[in-house]
Amino acid sequence: MSVQGNIKNITLTQLRAMKAGEEKIACLTAYDASFAALLDQAGVEIILVGDSLGMVVQGQDSTVSVTMDDMIYHSQCVSSAVQHAFVMADMPFMSYTSVELALDNATDLIQLGGVQMVKLEASARQVSIVQELSECGIPICAHLGLRPQYIHKLGGYSMQGNDAASAKELFDSAENLQAAGADMLLLECVPNGLADKITKNSSIPVIGIGAGPGCDGQILVLHDVLGVTLGVTPKFAKNFLVDAKDIPTAITSYVQDVKNLRFPD
Ligand code: KIV
Repeated sequence: MSVQGNIKNITLTQLRAMKAGEEKIACLTAYDASFAALLDQAGVEIILVGDSLGMVVQGQDSTVSVTMDDMIYHSQCVSSAVQHAFVMADMPFMSYTSVELALDNATDLIQLGGVQMVKLEASARQVSIVQELSECGIPICAHLGLRPQYIHKLGGYSMQGNDAASAKELFDSAENLQAAGADMLLLECVPNGLADKITKNSSIPVIGIGAGPGCDGQILVLHDVLGVTLGVTPKFAKNFLVDAKDIPTAITSYVQDVKNLRFPD
């Protein structure tokens, strides 16, 4: 049964209850008020103000140019229009390189941007940052697997955790970040088996993108769902507008397909 409809605002408690009740969580990105309101009305439970805005809004070829000012501005646009969904925002490139910097910037996203959670691209190095933010009362989503802010080190966007050593490192990082106080995990481009193992081992919701159907929820970039992405669309994405009569119907189909395990197939 959906928690949507019984509640005004979706909270972390409800998201955890959805995981416990094996109800899939539907998430999408949004960057402006109009689309945020549309997603909210369609029953999307988590709206991410993603730093993917660097690519889909600003036309850059990666997320690394996105600034804190950009994130605060788009977070304000989105949070002002949302009545039900849980809103989280990305901490942009280089905005959380120390505990002090992370605390200042996360505070701005919550106080000025109006979001309920911050997301940061994480590995073992970010454990102490997650712990400090969490102890100060800031909800955190740790983004693991493919970390797009590392594009210049990675040299391309590809599957992570393919071999035994990197799979173990990812699994251990997920466990340590949760122990440090992360309230949610996001797995990007991780083999299905590994994503299933991490999801089963976590008591917090695990959201996947290109990580198979076993995660507690799914997220896509809104522009991929509507088929308006500039350049290459990731293989795991799906254009829901192809079979829909209009944009609201496409968003509703995405939500229904996530909930009914039709996406990802
Ligand atoms: O920035 C973003 O949109 C993201 C998603 C790809 C999960 O992090």
